[in-house]
Amino acid sequence: MEVNQARLMAELERLSSFSEVPAPAVTRVVFTPTDLQARAYLKSLCEGFTIREDAVGNTFIRWVGAEPDLPAVGTGSHIDAIPNAGRYDGTVGVLGGLEAMRALREGGFKPRRSIELVLFTSEEPTRFGIGCLGSRFLAGSLNASDGDRLKDANQATLNQVRVAAGFAGPLEDVPLKPGYYHAFAELHIEQGPLLDMRGVPLGVVTAIAAPASLRITIEGEGGHAGAVLMPGRHDAFLGAAEISLALEAAAKSSGAIDTVATTGICNVFPGAVNSIPSRVELSVDARDIDIERRDGMLNSLAAACDQVAAARGLRITREVLNADAPAVCSPMVIEALERACGLQKFDRMVSRAYHDSLFISRVAPTAMLFIPCRAGVSHRPDEYSSPEDITRGVEVLAKALSYLAEA
Ligand code: GLV
Ligand code: MN
Ligand code: MN
Repeated sequence: MEVNQARLMAELERLSSFSEVPAPAVTRVVFTPTDLQARAYLKSLCEGFTIREDAVGNTFIRWVGAEPDLPAVGTGSHIDAIPNAGRYDGTVGVLGGLEAMRALREGGFKPRRSIELVLFTSEEPTRFGIGCLGSRFLAGSLNASDGDRLKDANQATLNQVRVAAGFAGPLEDVPLKPGYYHAFAELHIEQGPLLDMRGVPLGVVTAIAAPASLRITIEGEGGHAGAVLMPGRHDAFLGAAEISLALEAAAKSSGAIDTVATTGICNVFPGAVNSIPSRVELSVDARDIDIERRDGMLNSLAAACDQVAAARGLRITREVLNADAPAVCSPMVIEALERACGLQKFDRMVSRAYHDSLFISRVAPTAMLFIPCRAGVSHRPDEYSSPEDITRGVEVLAKALSYLAEA
């Protein structure tokens, strides 16, 4: 079996051209024209495999095995990209998964179980405020009623947007039937610095951290930036600043390096230099590998909101968009990945980023394979993984898929 590095790198390059911003940055938001063009490009590469799309746009590219009724072996990731991202997050697991299947096929391998590549819809929360949309539906963590509940910034519902994008079927049909996958393995760049720092080319993921995200709305009193005196102010932005600092303090004081928190969105209204902010909308992201510590941080955040509201005379509301449990990876899939690493060095590690595997692990034995990315940089245009590291990851993935497809 030989991975075709030139083919794969050319496809990664081409996929990165479907973007709303100039290279090297990539922005590709779910169900926009660039996302649909990228999906069409991927499907154009899948000759000889069967293609199925579900009602939320998850796309399944299947290599039918000798015993097609057996639970399949899955692999895959996402191709959507947050604003001003790089080209490797998710795409390495999609095009790399496809390359693994093609390399096995070209090498004469005949799978017993079917092997299936999945393009998951909207792993990123950019449009609908919640990440892993497609894999949540597959795992039954979102259900059909969420199609009308979830809205984008223009108040268009997921149902309206997906139907306009050509995915019109009933959401009730999306959840995977029990036993659909025998095993699932996702290839992904690490998005952290450990492999690169240690010079270790491969990481086998044993657990995925628990993410939570909240929208916090702070309402105060607007007014003239010159005329309203300081003692009489109820500045919504200053409340937001205090809350963000309290969240940082909660993350830093948890006692564990695995606790992290970020205020990634801060919309200030009316947004004029000479007007006191009357309303602020924050979006915050809090994660930990330990769910009790993660929830402890959310409790501190709630207390900070109450305290700031009282001290500054503000109205503060919190909406939890998601608060998910961590995943423990499957020993069977870990074992297949480690066996596939052969004599090459690998580390066992946790994933601090979330992935579609977090949700697929709820319905199938799942693990992940990480490859290094330069200096751990991700969600930035200068995200980079070398062709050699990507190829190595695809080789290991292909071997692991072949072992799992025979079992
Ligand atoms: C995925 O992109 C994450 O934010 O972990
Ligand atoms: Mn990402
Ligand atoms: Mn990703």
